Amino acid sequence: MEDTQAFYEQWASTYDADVASQGYASAKRCADALVQFADDLTSPVLDVGCGTGLSGMALSKAGFQVIDGADISEPMLEQARERNIYRRLFLHDFSEPVQIEAGRTAHAVAAGVINPGHADPSAIDNLLAVLPGGGLFAFSLNDHALEDPRFEGRVHAHVDSGNAEVLMREYGEHMPGLDLRSVIYLLRKRSTV
Ligand SMILES: C[S@@+](CC[C@H](N)C(=O)[O-])C[C@H]1O[C@@H](n2cnc3c(N)ncnc32)[C@H](O)[C@@H]1O
Repeated sequence: MEDTQAFYEQWASTYDADVASQGYASAKRCADALVQFADDLTSPVLDVGCGTGLSGMALSKAGFQVIDGADISEPMLEQARERNIYRRLFLHDFSEPVQIEAGRTAHAVAAGVINPGHADPSAIDNLLAVLPGGGLFAFSLNDHALEDPRFEGRVHAHVDSGNAEVLMREYGEHMPGLDLRSVIYLLRKRSTV
């Protein structure tokens, strides 16, 4: 994880311009997926691996009113802070379990985060663990993640165990300038009765 932190520490100041020039699409695609199924736009959304806040901006533009952000990189969080769209920002490595107070998060988004060299497939488990029943989780898996069966394997495991259902799985553009595509998943955590 130190390599990832060093990489984003260097990239933080030019990240927005660089990904815009490559046509980065997954942040907007995740927000669009979430807004299709969320019934209350005042429910808090956690933007996991929020980076400089492009994914938070996409959530805000989609209509979400309460957005928290978290990232493994403090320089990326500093950029996100300047956007003034987040209720709360915190440092966390989502390859590890996370503690979130009950009621603090209804849904989660992870755009461009759960990929080789970034957050591990275990991030899917860690996020589903803190969502309430009925909570939605939108995330992208790019072509590199799709080549590694461990990533979609976590999705299948949660579906097979009855912990979550797949509301959407859509393959489309991720970074067209680099000829990279991604799947956007939208999962709903099942309510335990
Ligand atoms: C490609 S950027 C995406 C940023 C933002 N979500 C967006 O759509 O522009 C990936 C982000 O994930 C963060 N990241 C990588 N591994 C992480 C981990 N294990 N836990 C939390 N954040 C991580 C990086 O620091 C970086 O800010």
